[in-house]
Amino acid sequence: MVNGKKVVITGATGMIGKKLCAQLALRDYQLVIFSRNPDQARTRVPGAAVRWTPTEEGAWASALDGAYGVIHLAGAPIFGKRWNEAYKQEIRDSRVTATRLLVQAMAAAQNKPAVFVCGSAIGYYGASDDTELDENAPPGNDFLAQVGVAWEQEGARAEEYGIRTTLVRTGIVLAAGEGALAQMVPPFQFFVGGPILPGRQWFSWIHLDDEVELMIRALEDPRCSGPLNATAPNPQTNRDFSATLGKVLGRPSWLPVPTFALNALFGELGTVLASGQRVIPRKALDLGYQFKYATSEPALRHLLAQRET
Ligand SMILES: NC(=O)c1ccc[n+]([C@@H]2O[C@H](COP(=O)([O-])OP(=O)(O)OC[C@H]3O[C@@H](n4cnc5c(N)ncnc54)[C@H](OP(=O)(O)O)[C@@H]3O)[C@@H](O)[C@H]2O)c1
Repeated sequence: MVNGKKVVITGATGMIGKKLCAQLALRDYQLVIFSRNPDQARTRVPGAAVRWTPTEEGAWASALDGAYGVIHLAGAPIFGKRWNEAYKQEIRDSRVTATRLLVQAMAAAQNKPAVFVCGSAIGYYGASDDTELDENAPPGNDFLAQVGVAWEQEGARAEEYGIRTTLVRTGIVLAAGEGALAQMVPPFQFFVGGPILPGRQWFSWIHLDDEVELMIRALEDPRCSGPLNATAPNPQTNRDFSATLGKVLGRPSWLPVPTFALNALFGELGTVLASGQRVIPRKALDLGYQFKYATSEPALRHLLAQRET
């Protein structure tokens, strides 16, 4: 029984957070939103909004007292803009430093939270080949992998204070009109869609509904702890995913995007877009989680139909 249990959420105003908050509110959780801009947050998500300074200690820490759970989704967007050293630092600090301060504040609370659900990403594994990667696979060593390792190390410290902690390694989230899908659809609409070369790199996606359900599973299921891959059980190569997207849109998937063009447009970020990893949600499946969208075609049909309504 939820009975108005208090849950604190950072990053609640983001793509995943908005849907997650709506679902938690429906289940009768009492939401406390940590946001850099609480006035704006109040207009976007249900719950009480508290001003949060992610990389500085502050009065926000007192709002953690007595919370049942904390879900931590905040972070500067990875695909927000072309990376330079300053932006890479922001990507890192907004995750690693923010997680450290959040865990310190949880540890110092008189009534500590029982559960911590900490965001992470499949970038943890680095760019990889055809090898299937479950939660036991080792980390990579590129920039995003290094951020992922440091981010998870800070998050896992919550366990030392008796807080059950799950590190949710999220794949590429597919949502209606937002995120990756919003970037991928327009070229197809103009008949110039196609895979990102080389095309054989893996695309480990997840439908937003499953992402949110797995977050709630991590919050509620006492068997959940440690890393948890949040990806659909059937990742595809970039070429196959593009073909499926073209099929659902009724458009050809024929014009490949060459790596040099991505590099020219996005710099180092272009290399990330042209690589991938084949991630398997072993733990979620072992826990008996049944994916609402296990394959990409029904997931895309569902999301793209919403776009048209
Ligand atoms: N979407 C994906 O495909 C995907 C894939 C893998 C991992 N993830 C991870 O999952 C988490 C949530 O993803 P999302 O797509 O929902 O994120 P999002 O839409 O980019 O939003 C995340 C939230 O983080 C806060 N934020 C933005 N810039 C920040 C900064 N510089 N410092 C501190 N906080 C900042 C914002 O909240 P306020 O303005 O209210 O403070 C924002 O609403 C992120 O950590 C992301 O890395 C997402």
